Amino acid sequence: MPSPVLHTPALTSRLPHVGTTIFTVMSALATETGAVNLGQGFPDFDCDPALVDAVTRAMQAGHNQYPPMPGVPALRQAMAAKMQALYGWVCDPNTEITVTAGATQAILTTILAVVHPGDEVIVLEPCYDSYVPNIELAGGVVVRVPLTPGSFRPDFDRISAAITPRTRALIINSPHNPSGQVWSAADMLQLQDLLAPTNVLLISDEVYEHMVFDGQQHQSAARFPGLAARAFIISSFGKTYHVTGWKVGTVVAPAALTAEFRKVHQFNVFTVNTPMQHALAAYMADPAPYLNLPAFYQRKRDLFRDGLASTRFKLLPGAGTYFQCVDISDLAVPERDLPEADFCQWLTREMGVAAIPLSAFYGNGFDQRVVRFCFAKKDDTLREALKRLARL
Ligand SMILES: Cc1ncc(COP(=O)(O)O)c(C=O)c1O
Repeated sequence: MPSPVLHTPALTSRLPHVGTTIFTVMSALATETGAVNLGQGFPDFDCDPALVDAVTRAMQAGHNQYPPMPGVPALRQAMAAKMQALYGWVCDPNTEITVTAGATQAILTTILAVVHPGDEVIVLEPCYDSYVPNIELAGGVVVRVPLTPGSFRPDFDRISAAITPRTRALIINSPHNPSGQVWSAADMLQLQDLLAPTNVLLISDEVYEHMVFDGQQHQSAARFPGLAARAFIISSFGKTYHVTGWKVGTVVAPAALTAEFRKVHQFNVFTVNTPMQHALAAYMADPAPYLNLPAFYQRKRDLFRDGLASTRFKLLPGAGTYFQCVDISDLAVPERDLPEADFCQWLTREMGVAAIPLSAFYGNGFDQRVVRFCFAKKDDTLREALKRLARL
């Protein structure tokens, strides 16, 4: 037998500008160097054992086959009840809520469902790294509008100026990764007024909805009927229940929008793993875990901020998420003048603490001397990181 010709056809990349994400790079470097990993956003502590027990019970009860395409009804009902209790938004679990494989799939599926080639989608930079490649995969045109550097507040004049007849959607994210900034009710009202005369859809990434501090309230798009009527509201159980590896989230959207979402969803993942959905539905009967989350993370934020207060890192305000941003320009080491990304590599290798450069969240790599730490860590992990950072 002659040996077959081994030929792998060359591909033209659909995403030529995309490499390995900074989060993967920094986590790998942290593992390689034994650094404390405050880079990638995930807890280093376990979830409530009751949640794991609920999964076991669901599996033992035989919930191991495909669930209905939009998700297990009990979980959609629990989400609808939560949306009403927290945000006063009444939605139909049958036609307006879909369970997804995490927020990441929810965002991609939303964009594939609504963006036609040539449609413009506005992103507010710095932004989560999946938005732009998602828009590009759909053939959309990315329109980047910066949040105000330093404060990371929305600049409504610039958002307004970016809206054209071809704008299909605007993506917002509050509480905001990476800055920790939280939109106020006044911000949301201003957005509602701005969008009212347009056909622009709102994609509201609310994965950190239960991490809002200092007595503030999360201003979900669901609280503002004019926004909710045009919004895909995206949540993540991974963030809320310390189970980022489970990859389960939801999309809440008006029935007409959900119908289009589900057309893509059913040929994308079709369904999301069944036992986790049953477990989450049962666990949601008690609101305490998410109602107590602000206090839980605010204490960690304060522990971390108090520890950094005696260093030359300048703390940026952070009212939400499990991220803390710091300005490095006053550090007493020459490496403070390195580009943010190189500084983070140095910090990981030489100081033993991994962080993420803010430049990674901008299309043009805008460098403002700011890096992001994740404080979703055990107190001991945070104390060890603070001990190492105290040398700076
Ligand atoms: C702003 C933002 N959106 C979406 C996600 C993805 O969430 P999930 O793990 O549920 O896919 C993340 C995760 O870091 C995030 O920070």
